[in-house]
Amino acid sequence: MNVPDIIIAIDGYSSTGKSTFAKLISQAFGFLYLDSGALYRGVTFFALENGMIEGTDRIDLGRLIPALETLDIHFEEGSKTFLGKRCIEDRIRTLEVSSSVSPIAAVPEVRAYVDRRLREFGERGRIVMDGRDIGTTVFPNAQLKIFMVADDQVRAQRRYDEMVAKGETPDFQEVLDNLKERDRIDSTREVSPLRQAEDAFVLDNSDMTLHEEVVWIRGLIQGRFDIRETRWLWVWPLR
Ligand code: DC
Repeated sequence: MNVPDIIIAIDGYSSTGKSTFAKLISQAFGFLYLDSGALYRGVTFFALENGMIEGTDRIDLGRLIPALETLDIHFEEGSKTFLGKRCIEDRIRTLEVSSSVSPIAAVPEVRAYVDRRLREFGERGRIVMDGRDIGTTVFPNAQLKIFMVADDQVRAQRRYDEMVAKGETPDFQEVLDNLKERDRIDSTREVSPLRQAEDAFVLDNSDMTLHEEVVWIRGLIQGRFDIRETRWLWVWPLR
């Protein structure tokens, strides 16, 4: 399917499967995938490693804000997150980083840093980006906006399964509480809170397979951009 050079913005609550869905779209249409949450996680990892966070949310802004000027977080090897020359992809997905990322993402200077980076990456078009404020703040002119939601228990189970698959031994209730707490902080912060853009299409994937999600987005893109095509390139996901 010949998809025009658009920006696709995917926002939504934690663990609604945004990144899996965005990666599938990037494969199916040959788009570049950018995970904005990975940048917030990268800043959080950097702050934790340098002793700038006490407990889960007391942040040493006096040290963090000046450090942002030279902080080099970027993507290599497809969509792996790097801090300078170091791959930190696995290290940014731990519960420790997840527990401190929302307070870090509420700092206006951190948001300005991430927004600047995302807009640099996004200049070339043909990108699919996921996050919380892509359709509302980072790319308000994105030609296609999706807002993803799913049932709390389903989301927590997905996160839990991911962690188990990585060899971790999470506590289900802790994973669920962490999700809810992040949603609360993300939705109520002053700068760019998580909310649905007025022109976003809602995708509730609580009871959908990945295959159904791909069928859904294909139909949406075809209708939206009036694309007539008989030969479809299918991506067959496992779930
Ligand atoms: O999508 P994720 O769980 O990897 O995101 C990590 C955190 O980053 C999330 O709790 C909120 C924050 N975030 C944000 O505030 N704005 C974005 N565009 C993306 C993520």
